[in-house]
Amino acid sequence: MRKLTYFIACSIDGFIGDPDGDASAMLPFVDAEYFEFLKAEYPETMPTHGRRPLGIDDLPNKRFDTIIQGRASYDLALKEGVTSPYAHMRQYVASRTLAESPDPEVEIIAEDLVGRVRELKAEDSAFDVYLCGGSRLAGELIDEIDELVIKSYPIVLGSGMPMFGSGFAVGEFTLGSVRTFGNGAVVRTYSRKR
Ligand SMILES: NC(=O)c1ccc[n+]([C@@H]2O[C@H](COP(=O)([O-])OP(=O)(O)OC[C@H]3O[C@@H](n4cnc5c(N)ncnc54)[C@H](OP(=O)(O)O)[C@@H]3O)[C@@H](O)[C@H]2O)c1
Repeated sequence: MRKLTYFIACSIDGFIGDPDGDASAMLPFVDAEYFEFLKAEYPETMPTHGRRPLGIDDLPNKRFDTIIQGRASYDLALKEGVTSPYAHMRQYVASRTLAESPDPEVEIIAEDLVGRVRELKAEDSAFDVYLCGGSRLAGELIDEIDELVIKSYPIVLGSGMPMFGSGFAVGEFTLGSVRTFGNGAVVRTYSRKR
């Protein structure tokens, strides 16, 4: 069984963006040291159209070969005219409103989201499944998440879009690794206690 990993950027107080989800306040923390880390350990989490200008679009995937994101997160790419933002992975977008996929490389999941994710996790692959977000999708899939990779940046937002758009429930995780960066960013990994 492979893992569903929620790989997510957030503030110290656990918000993944402003109240509308805009995460641009976090971008300044992607400095040289941090970028080298992403390049070395999670290159596939950078969108294809962002990798190309940096000349790193041929980096092999390290952790994930499949990505799932919510329609609102996918919309950000569509607004830039990009229909296949993670061309180096198999791409799934959860949506009940997108009647058909804007791109043959992107499969829409309209029904039985949890069942489809369980099928993806049951596939035989050395790579895990990257849950990209956003908040609502992560909330829907919270019980399916096996691993968290939380990239927290040294900012407090006070309010904003929560990491999970779900109700109250205590879920227990075990701390794996903690990596700190000169600019105050901290990347923690956790695995779910089953
Ligand atoms: N900080 C970070 O690392 C990070 C990462 C990713 C995203 N974000 C931010 O997150 C924001 C978007 O988050 P969000 O919570 O508003 O939306 P979202 O989770 O990206 O997408 C929500 C949409 O997903 C679809 N969906 C959710 N559950 C579903 C189900 N069970 N079956 C079928 N479709 C389902 C629905 O689409 P339809 O309405 O089409 O039915 C729903 O409106 C963006 O602004 C982005 O910037 C931040």
